[in-house]
Amino acid sequence: MSHKVKKDTLIVSAGRDSQWTKGVINPPVFRASTIVFDTMEQMRQAAAQKADGGMFYGRRGTPTHFAFQSAIAELEGGVGTALYPSGAAAISGALLSFLKAGDHLLMVDSVYEPTRDLCNKLLAGFGVETTYYDPMIGDGIRQLIRPNTKVLFLESPGSITMEVQDVPTLCRIAHEHDLVTILDNTWASPINSRPFEMGVDISIQAATKYIVGHSDVMMGTATANQKYWRQLQENSYLMGQCTSPDDVFLAARGLRTLGVRLAQHQKNALTVAHWLASRPEVDHLRHPAFESCPGHEFFKRDFSGSNGLFSFVLKQGNLAAATAFVEGMAHFKMGFSWGGYESLILAISGIDKIRSATRWDSSKPLIRVHIGLEAPEDLIADLEAGFARFNAVMQNN
Ligand SMILES: Cc1ncc(COP(=O)(O)O)c(C=O)c1O
Repeated sequence: MSHKVKKDTLIVSAGRDSQWTKGVINPPVFRASTIVFDTMEQMRQAAAQKADGGMFYGRRGTPTHFAFQSAIAELEGGVGTALYPSGAAAISGALLSFLKAGDHLLMVDSVYEPTRDLCNKLLAGFGVETTYYDPMIGDGIRQLIRPNTKVLFLESPGSITMEVQDVPTLCRIAHEHDLVTILDNTWASPINSRPFEMGVDISIQAATKYIVGHSDVMMGTATANQKYWRQLQENSYLMGQCTSPDDVFLAARGLRTLGVRLAQHQKNALTVAHWLASRPEVDHLRHPAFESCPGHEFFKRDFSGSNGLFSFVLKQGNLAAATAFVEGMAHFKMGFSWGGYESLILAISGIDKIRSATRWDSSKPLIRVHIGLEAPEDLIADLEAGFARFNAVMQNN
């Protein structure tokens, strides 16, 4: 009887193949540009295996990279993983691997803002046209597919506003038209969803966030299925993408505690989120595990857990009051990231300006938090003091 190993076990064992680790628990750092050979025959063999974990040249990777790549591919459920120096590079690398001049791209409207900028600036200049679609479009995506549409890009939940997409439906329709489906899967991390079972062809992680987990490394991964792995791998190589083995070592080290960290982030964030939901100042939560979040039903169906990142919308407010709320926190710091062990907070304005297929009412302030591993009671006390500062400004208006 075959026994399917659980994710918690895989997080510990994935990629720790002795051909790379030589028995060392954490695969050591192999720093290399040049790999040398004694014979022409050895060089021929290395060339033949250069794309399959053979030692060939530093840019093709070393055992440090191979062990980590194989761990991510296994956890995501794909066949191969390309590494990039940032999450943004993984996104551009994946898009540029499958698009050429004259192609049409379908991009989710709630996408991470730099991905939108990539489409509007770089891809537009290369002759690739982008159409943005409502994250909740579902079956309606059919109407947007053209004869030259090549890629459907998804991000679920969306950045900042957190809409959860119906990924299986969107991918099924995309495949009826032979599109390549690419998902920014960073929020789920490699353990809280099964992108390839939902029909995704390429799953991207900004490893900078939860995989690294300690806010000290930039890295991206793109994992592909059988159909698209060779094309992604070769094009990423042609674009010269590679990562430092020291960074990969840290990412691989972070990966081994992903399960326990995410479980605690989730627990702390749910405690804080329930408290926020009871506050009179809060209009609604944008947390996928709450009914008030668009696509909550897809979260329940497609995800096995949440994490520390969510947003909430206030009933009313202005820039001065939102500023008073986020400034002067004892534990929350302001920073443009998430996924580390520490709590972060941002007051986000101008969302209406980065939407083109949907509308967003920017008159109500939106606050995004990343709930870290601190005690939730301390974070709640911090937020409570923030609301007192917020209310004081509002009363003086
Ligand atoms: C959803 C998402 N995707 C991609 C990225 C980009 O990752 P990186 O900062 O590693 O380039 C980010 C960064 O915040 C993100 O939040």
